[in-house]
Formats: sequence, C-alpha cells, structure tokens
Amino acid sequence: MSDLISRTALVTGASRGIGRATARALAAAGARVIVHYRNAAEEAEALVKEIRADGGRADAVAADLAAPDGAHKVAAEVRKLVVGQLDILVANAGVATAAAIEDQSVEEFDRMFAVNVRAPFFLVQQLLPLFGEGSSIVLLSSLAARASVGLLPAYAATKGAIDTLVKHFAALLGPRGIRVNAVAPGVIDTDMSKFARTDEGRQFTLGMQALQRIGHPDEVADVIAFVASDAARWVTGDTIQVGGGSKL
Ligand SMILES: NC(=O)c1ccc[n+]([C@@H]2O[C@H](COP(=O)([O-])OP(=O)(O)OC[C@H]3O[C@@H](n4cnc5c(N)ncnc54)[C@H](OP(=O)(O)O)[C@@H]3O)[C@@H](O)[C@H]2O)c1
Repeated sequence: MSDLISRTALVTGASRGIGRATARALAAAGARVIVHYRNAAEEAEALVKEIRADGGRADAVAADLAAPDGAHKVAAEVRKLVVGQLDILVANAGVATAAAIEDQSVEEFDRMFAVNVRAPFFLVQQLLPLFGEGSSIVLLSSLAARASVGLLPAYAATKGAIDTLVKHFAALLGPRGIRVNAVAPGVIDTDMSKFARTDEGRQFTLGMQALQRIGHPDEVADVIAFVASDAARWVTGDTIQVGGGSKL
C-alpha cells in the first residue's frame, strides 16, 4: 500500500503494541506520522528515528491522556506541527485492568473511562478544525464490547462507549467528508494482553477463536491502515472486528 503519500496521521499510544505497529504501517504506506506517547520517550524516539531512517517523516509528542487536559495538550502540539489538514487520527492509547465486580475500584474505573473514552472524544473535538474532506478517524474498540470475556466489565463498557461514539461522530461529521470507524481487536500479543503468554491464558484465548493462534499487532495495524485509506472511502460509522474469528 502506498496510497498514503502526502497524508498526515496522528497515532496515540504509538510507543508500544498496536499503536507502534500502526505508526509503522502508516509510515510504510507513505504517511507522515505523529507518534504520541505518555511515558515511553525512548521507545517513541526510537520509532521516529526508525521511520526517518527508512525515508519516512515522523515526529513525537507526549501527553498523559488520563489528565483532563491531556487531549487538549496533544491537539495543541499537533496544531504546531501540522500546516493544513490532518488526514488520519488513530485514537489508540488505552488501558485495561481486569477486576471482578466486587473488586473494581472507583479510581481505576475513572482512569479507564478517562483514557479510553474521554480522551478520544476531546481529541476529535480539539482536532476538528484540522480535519477535512477525506479525513479518516479510527478509534480502538475491543472484542470485549460485544462479548463477555474474562473479568473486564468496566473496560468493556469503555469500548461499548467507543462503538456508540463512532456512530454519532460518523453521522455528525459525514457531511464534512470525514469518516469515523472503530477497529475491534480480539486478543493481541501486547503488554496489555500479557495473560495470553501463559499456558492458561493461551488455552482460554484459543478456546474462543476460529483461527488457532494469538493475533499480532501488525494484523490489527494493517486493518487500521486500510480503514484510514481511500480504499475504505465508503466505510463509515462501523466497528470492524479483527479477532481471528473470536466468539463467533
Ligand atoms: N492487546 C489487546 O489484546 C487488545 C484487544 C482489544 C483492544 N485493544 C485496544 O487496543 C489499543 C492498544 O492496545 P495495546 O494492546 O497496544 O496496549 P499497550 O501495548 O498496553 O500500549 C498502550 C499504549 O497506550 C499508551 N497509554 C497508556 N496509558 C496512557 C495515558 N494515560 N496517556 C497516554 N497514553 C497512554 C501507552 O503509552 P506509554 O508506552 O508511554 O505508557 C502505550 O503506547 C487500546 O485501546 C486497547 O484497549 C487491545
């Protein structure tokens, strides 16, 4: 894919996991990529260097999206870097903690909603002046939004909110030529899904999937890059499952 030449993309949470793979995929397709991270400055800078060494264009921006003004800070940095249109936003940064209903703390519940729901909402709000005809916004949902998996009720609710937001954003922004979709991974081999690296976690995961292996971040990144591209120009308001046939 090389159809993202002359496009500019922001990927939040690009220091690790799915976000990092997405930043690489978008850069490989020709996009200039703004790599957002929270703490992992070394990893983010290494990714920027790698993309530049491959002939691509990349910059890094940092902000804690658990903070009420986190999205506003990212948007302010992006406005300094982008002259013209922001073509792609991948609001990928996310947090997940498993807890039984009885054990869920209010603090962790609020942190998950802040990073997973509030931050994408206000990123879209703050970046609206930069989006235009042909822009594509991709939010990260999850298998957990449509099926009960593990002890994830609070996390799952944040992703259910994303599936709802996508429909409203798509309806409201469609008249401006802006598409909005979500990608919903199943279990993917990242720090967030470390449990799948144990024998028990692996068996649990394979037991709910049609395809019998653990998914890789690149396999989500390729779908995000497709949704971000003009090849998906007639797709909006949708959540695309990327889970190897999970919970069919
Ligand atoms: N992995 C899966 O199985 C899976 C399944 C379904 C959905 N998802 C979703 O996919 C997305 C990416 O997940 P992942 O597995 O790649 O996660 P990950 O490997 O744990 O990486 C999380 C990323 O989010 C950033 N982040 C976390 N808290 C943040 C905060 N307060 N402010 C700003 N950035 C923050 C991290 O930045 P630092 O490195 O700087 O901390 C990191 O770049 C998430 O939205 C997740 O819910 C994942």
